[in-house]
Formats: sequence, C-alpha cells, structure tokens
Amino acid sequence: MALHTGRQESHDGKGGHRVSVNPFLGAANPEVGMVTAPPKHRMPSGPMPADTAYQIVRDELMLDGNARLNLATFVTTWMEPQANLLMAESVDKNMIDKDEYPQTAELERRCVAMLADLWNAPDPAGVVGCSTTGSSEACMLAGMALKRRWMRKNAERYAAGARPNLVMGVNVQVCWEKFCNFWEVEARTVPMEGDRYHLDAASAVALCDEDTIGVVAILGSTFDGSYEPVWDICAALDEYQASTGHDIPVHVDGASGAMVAPFLDPELRWDFRQPRVASINTSGHKYGLVYPGVGWALWRDRDALPEELVFKVNYLGGEMPTFALNFSRPGAEVVAQYYTFLRLGRDGYRAVQQTSRDIAVSLARRIEAMGVFRMISRGEELPVFAFTTEDDVTAFNVFDVSRRLRERGWLVPAYTFPENRTDLAVLRIVCRNGFSSDLADLLVDDLARLLPELQAQSGPLHASGDPSGFHH
Ligand SMILES: Cc1ncc(COP(=O)(O)O)c(C=O)c1O
Repeated sequence: MALHTGRQESHDGKGGHRVSVNPFLGAANPEVGMVTAPPKHRMPSGPMPADTAYQIVRDELMLDGNARLNLATFVTTWMEPQANLLMAESVDKNMIDKDEYPQTAELERRCVAMLADLWNAPDPAGVVGCSTTGSSEACMLAGMALKRRWMRKNAERYAAGARPNLVMGVNVQVCWEKFCNFWEVEARTVPMEGDRYHLDAASAVALCDEDTIGVVAILGSTFDGSYEPVWDICAALDEYQASTGHDIPVHVDGASGAMVAPFLDPELRWDFRQPRVASINTSGHKYGLVYPGVGWALWRDRDALPEELVFKVNYLGGEMPTFALNFSRPGAEVVAQYYTFLRLGRDGYRAVQQTSRDIAVSLARRIEAMGVFRMISRGEELPVFAFTTEDDVTAFNVFDVSRRLRERGWLVPAYTFPENRTDLAVLRIVCRNGFSSDLADLLVDDLARLLPELQAQSGPLHASGDPSGFHH
C-alpha cells in the first residue's frame, strides 16, 4: 500500500480541511447538513447520520476513474449480480477462522483441487496449495519455499556466506523485486535485447549457478502479454543439470496466463507436466474472473514446500496446515472464486477468455491499420497488446495518446520498457471480461477522432517522466 503521511497542511490556514456537506445530505432535517462540516484529516468528534456519511464518501469516489474503462488493469472489474450477492453475504467471514467457517475452508480446498487438475498435476492428491490475497503474496510464498529448499540443500555453504540468487527476466512484475529485497536474495535479471522482450532459455541458464534457488518464468509478461517459453527454459535447465549437477527448480508466475493458457492453449506444456516446474501462482482476481483480492499458490508435491514453513490452525477439532503472510483475510473472494469455477466450468472459461482474445486481436489489427502505430504484440497470447508510434511519427508520442484518451475516460497506460530497451515507450491495452466488442469499437472511434489533432501538434507535449507514470 502507499505509504501515507499524517495530517496535511491546510490551505485555509484555519486548522485543516473540512468536508463540505450539501444540505440535502442531512438525514431528516436539511439543516443538519448545513451544520455538518466534518474534518478530513482528524477523526470527527461525534457521529453523523449514516446516509450523510454514505453520500459524502460516495461523492468523493466519483473522482476515481471508471473501472470498466480501465484498460491498464489485469484485475476483474465486472462480475454478475449473483456473484456480487454471494460476496456481500460472505463479506463478514474471516478466511483464517477455519474452525468457525469450515465450509468456506472446504470451498478453498476444492478450488486448490480444481487448479491442480487444471494445471495437469501428475498426482493431484499430492499437490499442496492455498489461497492468498493475490499473486504478489503467492509469489512471496513460492519464493520463500524455493529459498528454504536451497538453504536445506546448501546448509553449510549458506552458513559460510553463500548468497542465494533468483534468475528471471527484467520484465518481472515488481513483486519479484520485493521478494528479493525482503528475503535477501540476489535478483539476477536478464535484460531485454532488441525484439526479445522477455526471458529466453539461453539467457536464463547463463545466469544460473550453484546458488540459484530457482528460475521464474512468466506466463505472460506484464509488459506485452507474451508467454515466456517455460518448456524451453525447463529443457535448458535439464541440460544444465546434466552438465553441472545443479538441479534448479522453476516457478511459473501465471498471474494472468495460468487462467488463460489452460483454456485457449491446451497444447502448451507450461505447467506441472514439466517435472521441473515446482510451483505455480495465479491471480484469481485477474483472468480467474473474481474481484480483488484473491490469488493462488500451488506446489507440485510436499517436497516442493518445506514442512517448516507451514503453520497449523484449528479445524473441526483437528488441525489444518496454512501458509500465508497475512493472518486475517476476507473469505468473500474465495467464495466468489468457487462460484465462478462452478458457474462457468471449463467451457465457460474457454468462451470468456476466447472472447477477450478475439477482441484483443481485432482491436490490435484495427489500431495497426491506422498506419501510425507499430505493434509490439498483438493480443495472441494474453489478450493484451502493446504498441508504439511508427518511427516517422514526430508530432506526438505514446504519452500524448494516453493523456488524450483519458479525456474520454479511457485509461490506457503509456510507459517505457526496462533495460536494455529504455528507448522504447509503449501503450498497453488489457482486454478482459466486460470489455465488450462494442466498447472496443468506441475506443477505436475515439482514437481515430483524436489522431488528426495529435498529428497537427508541432511535437510531443508529454515526456515519459510525467506524473502519469505507470508501475507494473
Ligand atoms: C506476472 C505478474 N506477477 C505478479 C503480479 C502481481 O499480482 P497481484 O496484483 O495479484 O498481486 C502481476 C500483476 O499484474 C503480474 O502481472
């Protein structure tokens, strides 16, 4: 979460900001509203009517962007009313209270079993897994398991000062940088090179050594939606093991793709069919189609998750193993995940993801046909694509396009790629359930309408350092 400071300096010099309240917001007596002016940065000294408080908060939230027009996020922004109802009905359940809410715990267990099956675990009964607040927590847990396994195997060398490292592409999501920072693991990142925007097998293996706790492969990359070649990376690590003796496990960060590839690309062998894949995470709240925050982490078997990391909580008179960073956590998202699995089934998920991919591919084609944009990807893997301006476009840049689209409510982020392609700035569009082909048509219309104005500029108006800065 953002780190916030305390009370802000007041603009009026009279002791801080106040919320101004419209008289109509008073519960029964309009006058109440006129005299209610609660402070913003100090807890009010007394209560106010619930309707008034509701309206004040609701009014402020109007300034947020419209979530359905947010093409920056991978996170679910639409669920059907039945799911909303179930979530509202289970919002009071604490996921950690397994003994008090045993059926919610049972639904979580069933979700893990369904994912083990979906990800082709050779022995689904041997898989261990848990829900999390999202992929970030899931990645932390997976990283901790990798580190602990390495520490066990290298106890003496670790005690003597050996420093564990984790190999990954520079395009990893920020959660992996956090993992390395928080758990004191050296981050070994493979830079982008030319038109290679993600990790490849040869560059991954080149960074491995006896202190490598694992390789992270992403399905797919946040930067452009492309799948990293998990199968090639695993094969290259097999060869590496044959020549060096170092057995390096792979973690697949399937934050988005682990809920896309099983339905749309079943022939891709990215999952537990690869013996080297020790663990996989996904975000239930991305292409799992549930509101934030729920994620999942699964380990191939008990050997992949060291027992000493597991804590036990009471459950129906016995004990239930748990692995989590948080203690208390809402149960509603897990309930909603189970609902969605049940509601859609494999065919339903396939239909939803195929629609998103079809929309992405067709939208990418239409944007390319405008003649001023060069595609970095085309929505053919994750339903996500990135594009930049053609070399001969000098009147505007991607940051201008992002700003102008925002005037119509579209949130399309523009950002610069990492090393060694910091010269490349792109726009990225994430197509997800709820972004219909009608909405895609409207976006194309808006972009087409803006282009003549952008082309009439004498040069770009916004640079990459603008505060619209986008973080992965
Ligand atoms: C590849 C990848 N890993 C991890 C994350 C973090 O996921 P979450 O937002 O669920 O914590 C993301 C988020 O976009 C991602 O794309």
